[in-house]
Amino acid sequence: MNSIESYVETYGVLPVINITDANKAVLLAQALTDGGLPLIEVTLRSDCSLEAIRRIKQAFPDMLVGAGTVVSEKSVDDALSVGADYVVSPGYDPELVNYCKQKGVVIVPGCFTPSEIQIAVKNGLRILKFFPAELGGGVAAIKLLSGPFPDVRFLPTGGITFENLSAYLENNKVIACGGSFMATAEMFRQGDFEGITKLCIKASEIAKNARKAK
Ligand code: 3PG
Repeated sequence: MNSIESYVETYGVLPVINITDANKAVLLAQALTDGGLPLIEVTLRSDCSLEAIRRIKQAFPDMLVGAGTVVSEKSVDDALSVGADYVVSPGYDPELVNYCKQKGVVIVPGCFTPSEIQIAVKNGLRILKFFPAELGGGVAAIKLLSGPFPDVRFLPTGGITFENLSAYLENNKVIACGGSFMATAEMFRQGDFEGITKLCIKASEIAKNARKAK
């Protein structure tokens, strides 16, 4: 396990956010760290995503910042150029994975089917994003997929909520859950950073209790 994976596993939850205003990026990062979660995945889905990553890393050099929705080699380079610590892709693209491996960049690719997981394992990956998790069968699917792929550990995202979070985290094959439930698009738009901090504290508590139950 590399240091990024163990860092994410320590917190158990990973805020995934589409930042639509770079001027609020540092306030958001502050809200997350105040809530005990010094980690974020910024999806590359807006015009200011890269600028947001740059500002967060400048203000919080120790915060773990991943670039999400990375779907091309250029996006990998762009993300690294602004200081991203690792990249996440929504699906499994063998060429993209090889590109990252050659560059020594940690990539967490999305997998949804046994075929994709099998290819990922063949390519030496052990930590995979399970996306979209709820649509893909949730915890029950992870349990079944762990039969043929016992060495794989998952970072489920897509449809995780405060209601289903514990069930995921109590599964040993889950390193952490990602999602927008701790910092919703609406909260970000409204600048509700206090609310985001409160939700981060709540998510951290659930993660801590789930670890104890493992
Ligand atoms: C995404 O790619 O949008 C993330 O997985 C977040 O999904 P969520 O909004 O369902 O948490």
